[in-house]
Amino acid sequence: MKIHKLRITAGIAVAALLIGAALAEQRLGSYTTQNTGKIVQAKPAALAEDSEYEMASLPSFDAELANGAGRAETQIYCGTCHTPRYITMQPPLPAATWEAEIQKMVKAFGAQIPQADAQKIAQYLHEHYTPETRQR
Ligand code: HEC
Repeated sequence: MKIHKLRITAGIAVAALLIGAALAEQRLGSYTTQNTGKIVQAKPAALAEDSEYEMASLPSFDAELANGAGRAETQIYCGTCHTPRYITMQPPLPAATWEAEIQKMVKAFGAQIPQADAQKIAQYLHEHYTPETRQR
């Protein structure tokens, strides 16, 4: 009778330990806004004040915009958010489509392009990137 009770007590103790371990495991991996988990990160090494840092040179692609009047404006205004390569990677587009494209950049995406420059860009795109005018 006594041994039987001992076994039950031992069994309950083991079960409690296992459940506790399982819950602890679960808590470790459950992140909430209150509990951000317990992954401790190593403190970053202190930077020396007289250190010198260099930037790696990253590959950049030349847009290779066609030469002509309006190229500079196009390069500048159409290259602030994305590469001006967005122009050269389009198929040749009709003039009206380029007009709409410029309007879309201004109205939908907030491109800040003075009216006079927008006209130069439109003219430039017509002269080099329509089905009639595109060279390559
Ligand atoms: C204010 C930021 C901004 C400027 C400036 C800008 N674009 Fe865009 N452009 C975008 C965004 C955003 C997209 C769509 C998201 C993407 O594909 O990266 C886009 C996409 C494009 C596309 C792909 C087709 C499309 O409509 O999605 C072309 C072509 C394009 N732009 C041309 C131009 C030209 C030409 C100019 C200059 C007149 C210009 N962009 C200036 C933000 C800009």
